[in-house]
Amino acid sequence: TTILVLNGPNLGRLGTREPEVYGSETLADIEASLRVGLPEGVELELRQTDDEGELIRWIHEAVDRGTPVVLNPAAFTHYSYGLRDAAALLKQAGVPLIEVHLSNPHARERFRHTSVISAVATGVIAGFGSDSYRLAVQQLLRIV
Ligand code: DQA
Repeated sequence: TTILVLNGPNLGRLGTREPEVYGSETLADIEASLRVGLPEGVELELRQTDDEGELIRWIHEAVDRGTPVVLNPAAFTHYSYGLRDAAALLKQAGVPLIEVHLSNPHARERFRHTSVISAVATGVIAGFGSDSYRLAVQQLLRIV
């Protein structure tokens, strides 16, 4: 099994980007800790992009490969209908998608209270810092 861990805009800046909100770990730190204790035969592919089209193409790739996805859509969460429609293709194909957030967007600015992705996600995990990713991977391994 391969799990794709996809990250949207500005998440490449983790570590120095608002550490009081997002923690002080970089995406590479998160990737390294996700790899610890992965069961035999489970591969993890972590990617980050600031580009909406690239993220959509990665979702299409996951649809075609049948690869379960952990997605932190970052700011695209709140307004990208293009990404939402791509995520709906995963749902249609029966490929699990877990939406994750480091912070709890509901406890923040109003524009973050809406996710256009959640309605087509299998589930959502938010507010636990990098543990959100770990919990999502753990749960994907239970359901695939
Ligand atoms: C985020 C929350 C989003 O509102 C924000 O735009 C991000 C990160 C999170 O992981 O907490 O870039 O998805």
